[in-house]
Amino acid sequence: MNKKVLVTGGTGFIGSHTVVELQSNGFDVVIVDNLSNSKVEVLDQIEKITGTKPEFECFDLTDKQKTKAFFQKHTDIEAIIHFAASKAVGESVEKPLMYYYNNLNSLMNLMECMQDFEVKNLVFSSSCTVYGQPDQLPVTEQTPRKEAESPYGNTKSICEDIIRDVCKANPSLKGIALRYFNPIGAHETALIGELPLGVPNNLIPFLTQTVAGIRKELSVFGDDYNTPDGSAIRDYIHVVDLAKAHVVALHVC
Ligand SMILES: NC(=O)c1ccc[n+]([C@@H]2O[C@H](COP(=O)([O-])OP(=O)(O)OC[C@H]3O[C@@H](n4cnc5c(N)ncnc54)[C@H](O)[C@@H]3O)[C@@H](O)[C@H]2O)c1
Repeated sequence: MNKKVLVTGGTGFIGSHTVVELQSNGFDVVIVDNLSNSKVEVLDQIEKITGTKPEFECFDLTDKQKTKAFFQKHTDIEAIIHFAASKAVGESVEKPLMYYYNNLNSLMNLMECMQDFEVKNLVFSSSCTVYGQPDQLPVTEQTPRKEAESPYGNTKSICEDIIRDVCKANPSLKGIALRYFNPIGAHETALIGELPLGVPNNLIPFLTQTVAGIRKELSVFGDDYNTPDGSAIRDYIHVVDLAKAHVVALHVC
C-alpha cells in the first residue's frame, strides 16, 4: 500500500506542485485547504498532470474540532507537509493578530493531532525570513536565526520553536523545517502555477499579470542597492525543484 501524506495548503502555489511530485513518486495524497488563497479547480489540473485527483477536504485548520474530526476519519496518514499559512509580509505588518492566529493555531492543532493520532513525521514550510538580515552570506543551516523583521517572519520562527519543543517532548515525532528563498515558476505543463486570489503579493505573478495586461504597471522599488543599476538582486528557486525537495525531506524524516 502507498504511504499516505496530508498536504495542508495543497491547492496553493507550492502545495499543488508538491502534490504532483508526491503522486509521481507513488505517494497517496489528501489535501486540506480552506481555499482562502487558492481555487478548488487546481484539483482538476493536478488530475490532468498525474492522472489522479487527490482527496480533498475544505476546512480551516484553526478549527480544532474539524481538524480532529479529519484525523478521526483519515486514520492512515503517515506524514504531513504543512504549507497552509498566511504569507504576505506587508499584510502581516498591518494585521499581525490575523497572522499569529492563523499560522500558530493551524500548526498547534496539527501537532496536537500528530500526538493523539500517532502521525510521526512533519515537514514544515518555513522561510528565509527567519534569518533576518544575516551577518554573512550565503546563510547555511548553522547560521543563527535573528529577530524577525515582520510578524509573518516571526510566526515562522515561533512555529520552528513549537516544532522543536513538541518533538523534544515526544521523541517518536520528527520534524523538518525547510527555509525557502523566493520560489517562482510553474509546472512545465503550465496547468498549475502561481495563482493567488486578489492582488498578488509576490513579484512574479505581479509581473506576469502586468505582461498579460491584467495590471497596469509594475513598480520597481529601491535604486541605491550596490548593484549595476541600483535595483535589488535576489536569488530564486524553481517551484518544481522546491516541490522535489519536499519529497526528499519526507524520505529522510
Ligand atoms: N511563496 C513564497 O515566496 C514563500 C517563501 C517562503 C515560504 N513560503 C511558505 O510556503 C507555504 C506555501 O506558500 P505558497 O506560496 O504556496 O502560498 P499559497 O497562499 O499559494 O498557499 C497556501 C495555502 O494555504 C491555504 N490556507 C491558508 N490558511 C489556511 C488555514 N487556516 N486552513 C486551511 N488552509 C489554509 C490557502 O488557501 C492556500 O491555498 C506558506 O506556509 C508560506 O509561508 C512561501
